[in-house]
Amino acid sequence: MKALILAGGAGTRLRPITHTRAKQLVPVANKPILFYGIEAMVDAGITEIGVIVGDTRAEMMAALGDGSAFGVSITYIPQDEPLGLAHCVLIARDFLGEDDFVMYLGDNLLEQDLAAFVAAFGAARASDSPPDAQILLKQVPDPHRFGIAELDDDGDVVRLVEKPADPPSDLALVGVYLFTPVIHDAVAAIEPSERGELEITDAIQWLIEQGRRVRCELLSGWWIDTGKLTPLLEANRLLLEKLEPRIAGSVDAASVIDGRVEIAEGAQIENSTIRGPVAIGAGTRVVDSFIGPFSAVGAGCEVVHSEIEHSVVMDNSRVVEIPRLEDSLIGTDATVMRSKLKPRALRLMVGDHCHVDVE
Ligand code: G1P
Repeated sequence: MKALILAGGAGTRLRPITHTRAKQLVPVANKPILFYGIEAMVDAGITEIGVIVGDTRAEMMAALGDGSAFGVSITYIPQDEPLGLAHCVLIARDFLGEDDFVMYLGDNLLEQDLAAFVAAFGAARASDSPPDAQILLKQVPDPHRFGIAELDDDGDVVRLVEKPADPPSDLALVGVYLFTPVIHDAVAAIEPSERGELEITDAIQWLIEQGRRVRCELLSGWWIDTGKLTPLLEANRLLLEKLEPRIAGSVDAASVIDGRVEIAEGAQIENSTIRGPVAIGAGTRVVDSFIGPFSAVGAGCEVVHSEIEHSVVMDNSRVVEIPRLEDSLIGTDATVMRSKLKPRALRLMVGDHCHVDVE
């Protein structure tokens, strides 16, 4: 079994952050989104991973390297234009060979144990009616935004349709798929959709029309497509809730650490309150401040005389004299500061290298 991770795409809904970084590398709970996906593949026993890369190829390669840091080997497959998920399978043909594979959308985060999902496919493949695809479904309130599955009374998939105006159900395709090599015939047979992309949903529908079996599972835990600010902060919240409390940095006697908190190596907490779930990165200084629930402050940051809650602050940024920063995403090497004191809550999305001085 191999894995194909899709990590191209422009990330337009997370600008300005994605002007300077790949959306899949934005950190949640102080770890890039994509790393969770790679770790899920490792847990499922997969070691050969193909990564589809677009404009952010150089950044992706710098972050993942040859994969040895994760115990896997990574092959980069460039996609010149975002021509659809099925197009990714098409261009990964040589890498995938005749192996079964997991296709994983690099900006998706899900609670489900993928090892069990992969094992279930293996078991079903050994059955009397072996499937050629396995999909994961989740009930959603807005089915017109997703690929949607229609099931029969036995729970078998009978039809799939991409972003239907009139959805036949509320069961959305989550961004994890399992395929046998038969999918290569499917992606070669389909035509581009109205949005000009080769849709994987159409390729799976083609399998059904050829009499192939498509197995499905319903996702019980959470699933987040992180490409926008609100779901990104939600993912940050959900992952911080699972954080292993750990204090490796230093905390002075005037500070209070409360609840599920990770303070990485070399971080210094002085005269401050950290109320978990919170992650503080390596070498970060927090002075005369309050860092409240569901905040992740990256490495090498400085938070001085400020309050932060429900926010992500990326590496090497400074938050100085800000009475309250909430629901915010601050890029790397950014400064948010106030020169004159005026009490006010701020909600910000600040790109990398920015300087925001609130008068
Ligand atoms: C893609 C798929 C869609 C699926 C979704 C999951 O949509 O086309 O079927 O439900 O991912 O995140 P896109 O993100 O390309 O709009």
